[in-house]
Amino acid sequence: MRKPVMAANWKMHKTVSQAADFTRDFVNRLDEIKNQDCEVIICPPFIALSTLAELLEGSNVYLGAQNMHWEDEGAYTGEISPGMLSQVGCRCVILGHSERRQYFQEKDEDVNRKVLTAFRYNLTPIVCVGEVLEERKAKNTEQVIRRQVEKGLGGLTAAQVHELVVAYEPVWAIGTGHTSSPEDAQQVNTFIRKVLEEMFGKNAAGAVRIQYGGSVKPGNAADLMSQQDIDGALVGGASLDAASFASIVEAAG
Ligand code: 13P
Repeated sequence: MRKPVMAANWKMHKTVSQAADFTRDFVNRLDEIKNQDCEVIICPPFIALSTLAELLEGSNVYLGAQNMHWEDEGAYTGEISPGMLSQVGCRCVILGHSERRQYFQEKDEDVNRKVLTAFRYNLTPIVCVGEVLEERKAKNTEQVIRRQVEKGLGGLTAAQVHELVVAYEPVWAIGTGHTSSPEDAQQVNTFIRKVLEEMFGKNAAGAVRIQYGGSVKPGNAADLMSQQDIDGALVGGASLDAASFASIVEAAG
């Protein structure tokens, strides 16, 4: 059984004090959810990581980052290294988000370097893949996803793949309110698992948790989560409010 993983990606939102207020409120709400059997992750902006690490101590919420550099350290002004993340208490890191690909020209090759580095630092990568609207309309979704998975995850060992999280985030569904239907998302997640199986074998592919992301809300989370190959959610806008994210977590069961 794959344990669902529900992650908040705050993107460039919340000051440190707003992040702290959210976290106190959210941890209290989480305590009230019964029989919750999923992993919960919050990925705030870098600047809030250490404050949240303290506030989350003793809770069962993990801390994640939204990006990192692939080098151990060096002259890369403005960048954050994997060692900095793990030292501050991060367990995971979002890599290859479509906003990084779109606005910061990240390529599959960059994502791959980051994924390989993350494993060296015991950071679980949450690797994002997804097609843009034109690609979907042209029926190229599978071709795009295959390329992103094959290039982004090349060179991993089967043991590493067991730990991996992949997030399928159709770009046309991000921040638009247009969620993929649960059936369409399930279909793509199944395809991602098939490509992983070709690359790393059935066991490893069966263990990978594959999230869905893109306009996940309290009202649609349960339907999405009921699909067999949807093992969690990566939530943007609806994770900025503690009550809303808690209710999405509750939907994971
Ligand atoms: P929204 O939930 O705001 O659509 O964002 C999804 C996302 O990009 C999470 O990484």
